[in-house]
Amino acid sequence: MEEKPPSGNSKSKLTLPTDFPKLLSQVDMAEEDRYPTGINELDRVLGGGVVPGSLVLIGGDPGIGKSTLLLQAASSLSTSGKVLYITGEESLRQVGLRAGRLGLKTNEIYLACETNLEYISEYIKKVSPRVAVVDSIQTMVHPDVTSAPGSVSQVREVTAKLMHHAKEHGTSIFIVGHVTKEGTIAGPRVLEHMVDTVLYFEGDRHQSFRVLRTVKNRFGSTNELGIFEMQGQGLVEIENPSAMFMARHPLSTAPGSVVVPSIEGTRPLLVEIQALVSSNSYGVPRRMTTGVDHNRVALIMAVLEKRVGMRMGSSDAYVNVVGGVRLLEPAVDLAVALSLASSFRDAAVPNDMVVVGEVGLTGEVRPVTSLERRLKEAEGMGFKKALVPCTGIKKMSLPDVQLYSIDTLVEAIEVALQG
Ligand code: TYD
Ligand code: MG
Repeated sequence: MEEKPPSGNSKSKLTLPTDFPKLLSQVDMAEEDRYPTGINELDRVLGGGVVPGSLVLIGGDPGIGKSTLLLQAASSLSTSGKVLYITGEESLRQVGLRAGRLGLKTNEIYLACETNLEYISEYIKKVSPRVAVVDSIQTMVHPDVTSAPGSVSQVREVTAKLMHHAKEHGTSIFIVGHVTKEGTIAGPRVLEHMVDTVLYFEGDRHQSFRVLRTVKNRFGSTNELGIFEMQGQGLVEIENPSAMFMARHPLSTAPGSVVVPSIEGTRPLLVEIQALVSSNSYGVPRRMTTGVDHNRVALIMAVLEKRVGMRMGSSDAYVNVVGGVRLLEPAVDLAVALSLASSFRDAAVPNDMVVVGEVGLTGEVRPVTSLERRLKEAEGMGFKKALVPCTGIKKMSLPDVQLYSIDTLVEAIEVALQG
């Protein structure tokens, strides 16, 4: 980091660097070298590997697999450089046992059980590792801060100090942060603006899929996804997630099930959305969603009610994305709408059809980005029909997929729910 000239009122002593400010066109813009982690799905969310001197936060629920992932990454990173793994949560023996169970090479991993930041600073200076892991931020203590570990001020000060080390020594540091669903504890949220990259590890603890999502990245694009499965021998990369999600169930012919070719990040992903609408004759209707935004579902239900005339206002409605993925893009609207309509009418959507489109408030269906890539993925997975928005269709070479183009939700329901 460049030394800033001291600020203040001492007008006489101010010495400005001669070559500042610099012309942007003269700034050295050579691409930073990156270290591949040996885990492709992790490299993908980092934007192509670890940037030297970067600070990366990996957040997620306790038990989701953060330590496992970082130990696996530490192992493969250590084949080409020194790695320091600092744990405040487990004993050396526990980490050793885990590494053994995972069958990892650990020769060049330096391990320390420590929570005191002063010691950690010394370890970083002594080992001078290329990559360090701090597991977890909630257990670390800055000796100058009196509040308890995990409190906002502790977490902030510790991170600021780690940031300093990262920039000073060029060490890339991964920080683990636990988050709870409620976000009640002072956690990673308060640090998001301080670090270079924020990754969230998501997934249903009762299922084996794990999704690593880029929330912020100074060195790459956001919303990128890395997909893993937690197995007996640790986290295994899923290279073809569509095949994985689809393979888990025989193509469903039940009402309420719709497959959507979604693009989260840069990769198309086929996922099944399920809905269940059932009448509720007493009390307040229940609404539950997993994997899609609750408010978005409420909006789509309002459109179905008002523009299509489906009276589901007093019904219970549940919407679930299979496999524990979260879908954030509006291109999945039409699939959500059709799954609700399909369950409501008790009529199935053809099981060889995919559905994609954004739904507007007047019941119109709007175009989506990268339609061809989405449909190619569907074609590759053996789907024969695609329900797509009229607008935005250009010539596409999809010999095996029949396109059904529609303008409105009413038309979409007519085409998809013939049965
Ligand atoms: P862990 O990495 O300790 O989670 P975090 O650091 O995010 O709190 O993951 C712990 C869970 O992963 C634990 O419930 C057991 C499971 N697990 C496996 O299923 N297979 C494995 O090989 C390992 C190491 C853990
Ligand atoms: Mg852990």
